[in-house]
Amino acid sequence: MNTIAANASTASVDFLPLHGTDYVEFYVGNAKQAAHFYKTAFGFQSLAYAGPETGVKDRASYAVRQHKLTFVFTTPITSQNPMADHIYKHGDGVKALALMVDDATDAWEQTTRRGGVSYMMPTHLEDEHGKLVMSGIHTYGDTVHLFIERKNYKGVFMPGYRKWESLYNPADTGLLYVDHCVGNVGWNQMNKWVKFYEEVMGFRNILSFDDKDISTEYSALMSKVMSNGNGYVKFPINEPAEGKKKSQVEEYLEFYDGEGCQHVALATNNIVATVTELQNRGIEFLKVPSSYYDDLLSRVGAIEEDLDPLKELGILVDRDDEGYLLQIFSKPVEDRPTLFFEIIQRKGAKSFGKGNFKALFEALEREQDSRGNL
Ligand code: FE2
Repeated sequence: MNTIAANASTASVDFLPLHGTDYVEFYVGNAKQAAHFYKTAFGFQSLAYAGPETGVKDRASYAVRQHKLTFVFTTPITSQNPMADHIYKHGDGVKALALMVDDATDAWEQTTRRGGVSYMMPTHLEDEHGKLVMSGIHTYGDTVHLFIERKNYKGVFMPGYRKWESLYNPADTGLLYVDHCVGNVGWNQMNKWVKFYEEVMGFRNILSFDDKDISTEYSALMSKVMSNGNGYVKFPINEPAEGKKKSQVEEYLEFYDGEGCQHVALATNNIVATVTELQNRGIEFLKVPSSYYDDLLSRVGAIEEDLDPLKELGILVDRDDEGYLLQIFSKPVEDRPTLFFEIIQRKGAKSFGKGNFKALFEALEREQDSRGNL
């Protein structure tokens, strides 16, 4: 009896407590220009810079921030840097989903002991502002998770970086934090990665969508949502499914040349204001036919927002048992049809917009078709 009680309490301990997303790092062809784009179009502020001037000889990194959302853009400055191969293969994309932990050494030990493949041994970084510990493991494709322990660090971002002060400080657009990050994996690989998140990182599968849920006349995909214990970190995993034509996940895998991060969902408290601002700054979004709005309220019930601005902007609405959510998806933010962003406002709902999948994927297919890839 004692043994059973002890096991039960051990099982309930989260061996990898996460406080949320620390930052998302993108490997890009030109970090200086990428950072400028994200400041201009998305409303991020300059935060920190690392490069030859700060003692980093083979790359340049620009960190930008908006509320609790931190993006880092990194580019190699010599062709010998392996990051150059990453960009040659994948184009611009997400390299690291960095997670906030209390103990980066323990996070690395817990995950590698359970089969995680090390990307970075626990590494102590230090400057006049204190100590930061980071470590990391590989996930799907060439993507990695970094564990960041910054409780003893008071600097602006990380040792190796200096504060980046700029005369150009565009207003923010109300983006608050990372809601979730979606990975696209290859045929029959979804369950392998579900198992990875369960066993190596202690996540749970909180929602599953099969090809019946996510299919149109032409193409299909399957998806499982993985969440950590406190729900702060959510990673849905998509794999392509057979349809009459090519799955959008397949198009991604072809152009990213492998598995990788498909979209990052960014939270806002006022989606109408945020999307109006993003659109005015040149961000393009997928549009559903206006007929989507004809019977919207009978599908989702009463909502606090006026329908007209939602319709004008193309914002989608869905409801679950706990409330509703508003969401919209950008077109890819680079020339390869790979990474895009979702803007999401949750009003109680903890789900991912299942009711919008069909309308949305039809919109996506029209884009895919215009590229000749459907
Ligand atoms: Fe999403």
